[in-house]
Amino acid sequence: MGKDVIIACDFASAQQTFDFLDQFTGKKPFVKIGMELFYAEGPSIVREIKKRGHKIFLDLKLHDIPNTVKKAMTVLSNLDVDICNLHAGGTIRMMEAAIEGLTRPDGSRPLLIAVTQLTSTDQESMSRDLWIERPIDEVVMHYAENAKAAGLDGVVCSPLEAGKVHDRCGNEFLTVTPGVRFADGDIGDQKRVMTPAEAKKIGSDYIVVGRPITAAEDPVAAYERCVNEFVD
Ligand code: C5P
Repeated sequence: MGKDVIIACDFASAQQTFDFLDQFTGKKPFVKIGMELFYAEGPSIVREIKKRGHKIFLDLKLHDIPNTVKKAMTVLSNLDVDICNLHAGGTIRMMEAAIEGLTRPDGSRPLLIAVTQLTSTDQESMSRDLWIERPIDEVVMHYAENAKAAGLDGVVCSPLEAGKVHDRCGNEFLTVTPGVRFADGDIGDQKRVMTPAEAKKIGSDYIVVGRPITAAEDPVAAYERCVNEFVD
């Protein structure tokens, strides 16, 4: 799969999402559907957006016992999403079960990527709450290697980590990176950000961009600017 820009459709309802997507009359962008929209609207939102011709990253971050994750992944695979994800913290066995559940009878399956440590978790909370004492960047790389060992296709990570993930896990192992902002744009609540051009240079495979596109005065122009900087 080539490099692409994924728009985070962090909307509260199907109507808002469709109003937003209706503005794109040319190329159909790759979109990310997260928990808020999925829990509000259910699987029909995935089918509707797919029917409109978009690729979908379904960001539900599964984490449960292997058998439960396996069965849930079979359901997501039948929804025909393009990328889905889970928490690497669920162990290698859980990730292997997820791949089994995701794989269709014909051998095809959506891409599966792992969240290593959430970017909202820092060294202090990891040590205090989770009792994980190793340096957080080592933990992130270890979880990425676990994901690779389980047969996953890549990880969600900060663009700042993308180069290191490729060094450790190979260039074929995908890095999907949020935390992207235009050089002249608002950072909002993101802390460590990169421009689309910088993310390209460092080797991100997909950038996930929300508010710089969804809250722009001209979302289509903002999307095209991202594509020009990142893909072309
Ligand atoms: O609006 P913004 O560009 O900050 O949106 C980024 C998207 O990526 C949001 O959907 C956010 O939940 C998601 N994300 C993130 N950082 C992570 C994982 C996911 O910003 N570490």
